Amino acid sequence: MLGAATPTSHAVAATVAQVVPTTGTPTVVELGPGTGSLSGAIRDRLPRGARHIGIELNNVLVAHLREHKPWLEVVHGDARDLTVLLDKLAVDHVDAVVSSIPWSLLPDETQADILGQATDRLAPHGAFTALTYLTALHRTGGKRFRQRLEARFDEVLTHTTWQNVPPILHYLCRRPLH
Ligand SMILES: C[S@@+](CC[C@H](N)C(=O)[O-])C[C@H]1O[C@@H](n2cnc3c(N)ncnc32)[C@H](O)[C@@H]1O
Repeated sequence: MLGAATPTSHAVAATVAQVVPTTGTPTVVELGPGTGSLSGAIRDRLPRGARHIGIELNNVLVAHLREHKPWLEVVHGDARDLTVLLDKLAVDHVDAVVSSIPWSLLPDETQADILGQATDRLAPHGAFTALTYLTALHRTGGKRFRQRLEARFDEVLTHTTWQNVPPILHYLCRRPLH
């Protein structure tokens, strides 16, 4: 369920944070914030009045986040229910999605379903990021994920953070094709 042996490094967090808007009153959604190792860097860039929501499946990590990141709006839930969860929070569009759920390990239908819901709720100017281990790229699930991103976004860029152990590939996607 975690899809990770260690928390993500500061170098990864710094790269992820670049997609976070610094002006206006944006809404950022983290899918699978885990221990919250990306959350601080995201928060540091967010302007006053922004919403920063984390959707986390694991109840132990939810409790950890609520205790250690009290400024994060933590929802104990499944990214598969993203549309319903965002409706309950009265969020009609999202400016950035930061996802570190284990995309390449998800069953095919679940991967398509979650990505579809995240893309549908993204504003036209919004950005979507996903993290994956370099080693996952050659898995069937990793290849399908990339194909799906290319079908769902006008622009899909990649960046590798070699300082993380193991190295992390970032997908940075813009202009959702609604
Ligand atoms: C790779 S780990 C988190 C990495 C995080 N950046 C960290 O350093 O702690 C993936 C996280 O996604 C969560 N997760 C997995 N599937 C999920 C789902 N369907 N909905 C919400 N969270 C999920 C796991 O519980 C875990 O906390």
